[in-house]
Amino acid sequence: MKTEIHILMLEDSEMDAELVMHTLRKGGVVFSSERVETRPAFTRALERGPPDLILSDYSLPSFDGYAALAIAQEKCPDIPFIFVTGTLGEEVAIETLKKGATDYVLKHRLSRLLPSVQRALREAEERAARRRAQEQLRQSHEQLRALSVYLQHVREEERTRIAREVHDELGQALTGLKLQLTWLCGRLPAKSKSLHESTKTMTERIDETIQTVRRIATELRPGVLDSAGLPAALEWQALQFERQTGIHCPVQSAVRETMLAQELNTAFFRIFQETLTNVIRHAHATKVDVRFAQMGQFLVLEVKDNGRGISEAEMNNTKSIGLLGMRERAALLGGEVRLRGEPGRGTTVTVRIPRPQKEAGPNKLNFHENSPDRRPRRRAARA
Ligand SMILES: Nc1ncnc2c1ncn2[C@@H]1O[C@H](COP(=O)(O)OP(=O)(O)O)[C@@H](O)[C@H]1O
Ligand SMILES: [Mg+2]
Repeated sequence: MKTEIHILMLEDSEMDAELVMHTLRKGGVVFSSERVETRPAFTRALERGPPDLILSDYSLPSFDGYAALAIAQEKCPDIPFIFVTGTLGEEVAIETLKKGATDYVLKHRLSRLLPSVQRALREAEERAARRRAQEQLRQSHEQLRALSVYLQHVREEERTRIAREVHDELGQALTGLKLQLTWLCGRLPAKSKSLHESTKTMTERIDETIQTVRRIATELRPGVLDSAGLPAALEWQALQFERQTGIHCPVQSAVRETMLAQELNTAFFRIFQETLTNVIRHAHATKVDVRFAQMGQFLVLEVKDNGRGISEAEMNNTKSIGLLGMRERAALLGGEVRLRGEPGRGTTVTVRIPRPQKEAGPNKLNFHENSPDRRPRRRAARA
């Protein structure tokens, strides 16, 4: 608690005010004080800065306690407000407490004043501390969210860059090597059979490596997502899934356009991948139905498996990082992920994300520095 507090007193009798101050001082409260009698003086005092405590008479010649309470509630609702008054009927007293007064003390029972003030100050201090803690919590939540947006974008960008480099650089180098090898092979003496065998094996190894390079690049970020768009990428991913697991995975897409905003593409695609991974790991399904459609201004992806069905507890488990990541991705774009599980009958994951108003232009989530629509702006900024 503060060592010295400032008290605003609304009191027309100077003697009563002296008595109140004397009582508090005797009780060990260290304070400065200001006494006002009228509405304008009261309002001005509050506007200069909130006191730590307001002590108010109830009946005043030019002003009344009720109105004072209302003003204080509006200007500084967290400052304790105690009525110190000659008479106060029980009904009125209860009414003032309902309206937000902290307490009331009768002038002929001033012994109650000290404990009442001490309690009010302690509670105000606790409220302030709680609010500070909440504010800190809110800020750190916000920072975490910003960090998660940033990390996701950096990661996606990094994957795109590495995928392109692996595909282009390594791919070209290997193709070059293969051509040189073919040239060399043509110059080998026809009779040296073992040399011909070796070059054949080498060519095969190079072909395999080219396939591996393509696979790695595609796993990092499938080119189809950027070149052919989201519906095609979903179908492509479903096909990969079917090949890998043998689980039938048809895709019905009612969205024709291919050029959706990039962050929308990425969000849907990564959520879809995570959902399929969960089907492999947890569902024991034999079929997965995928539907992608536009509903109003929302794009909606539904992935429905016929497995064991996710339970309520699994859905709400805070340790479910995969689900958390999916929800976070959608939430960052103003959307949501809903899960529904039916025991023994399967799980449905529904992702709804609104289409941004202006999809073509760069928006604040588009960090892809090399996308064509960013370049002129960057140049202009540099010039
Ligand atoms: N399709 C599904 N069918 C049944 N259970 C699921 C399914 N998807 C997720 N779950 C359950 O939800 C939990 C949380 O999923 P997730 O957050 O992705 O974590 P992880 O996959 O790392 O276990 C899983 O551990 C699993 O128990
Ligand atoms: Mg998972």
